Amino acid sequence: MRIIAAKDYNDMSRKAANIISAQVILKPDCVLGLATGSSPIGTYKQLIEWYKKGDLDFSQVKTANLDEYRGLPKSNDQSYDYFMKDNFFNHININFDNLHIPDGEEPDAEKACADYDRIVADLGGVDLQLLGMGHNGHIGFNEPSDVFAKGTNCVDLQESTIEANKRFFASIDEVPRQAYTMGIGTIMSAKKILVVVSGKDKAPIVKKAFFGPITPRVPASILQLHPDVTVIADADALSECEL
Ligand code: F6R
Repeated sequence: MRIIAAKDYNDMSRKAANIISAQVILKPDCVLGLATGSSPIGTYKQLIEWYKKGDLDFSQVKTANLDEYRGLPKSNDQSYDYFMKDNFFNHININFDNLHIPDGEEPDAEKACADYDRIVADLGGVDLQLLGMGHNGHIGFNEPSDVFAKGTNCVDLQESTIEANKRFFASIDEVPRQAYTMGIGTIMSAKKILVVVSGKDKAPIVKKAFFGPITPRVPASILQLHPDVTVIADADALSECEL
């Protein structure tokens, strides 16, 4: 595991965008695994800027997002489908046929999960998976648990996650209680993984996840076993670690 110290959120975002750019330049038809949330927004902004300058071409890139709320229509401005279009896809030359996100509108959880596993397998797996990390160590929506989930699964969101996400909804009652998420097994089968993490509030979980024991109680801790993980963390997020 490579841990890269960034000065602040902007520095973290530029460094992450550099790594994604290199991936797209080296393999123009690569599969990018993408995340939502506040951590990657700066990375997407930087990539959009470089695309607009003419430095990047996304026309052959394929994407597979980590997760989607169950039961939220794509048109809802809090769906992850909407988030990705708004923060990234609408601003670059990506082919919309090449975008994949678990289908939150599919009420049959078993079908939604099996379909998404098939989609990711048909893509040939993920070349570079971008991840944020929740305060409880979740990646995707894989919450702390007794086991590491292998494939796409339907999860009940934890109170702390609902609490953290309520800022995006009019009230806490509107935050969906379930989500479909790529499993830990699928995340771990990505060829490369890039984690972006920033802020003092993430410092305790950064220490636990990347320097503590590997346990499904801290889902991100499994990343310590992956052969090609880069964590880009800002000074605040690293403030409890001795590097
Ligand atoms: C989002 C996702 C989540 C977030 C995590 C951190 O697609 O999979 O695991 O990465 O909740 O969220 P932020 O970046 O908002 O702190």
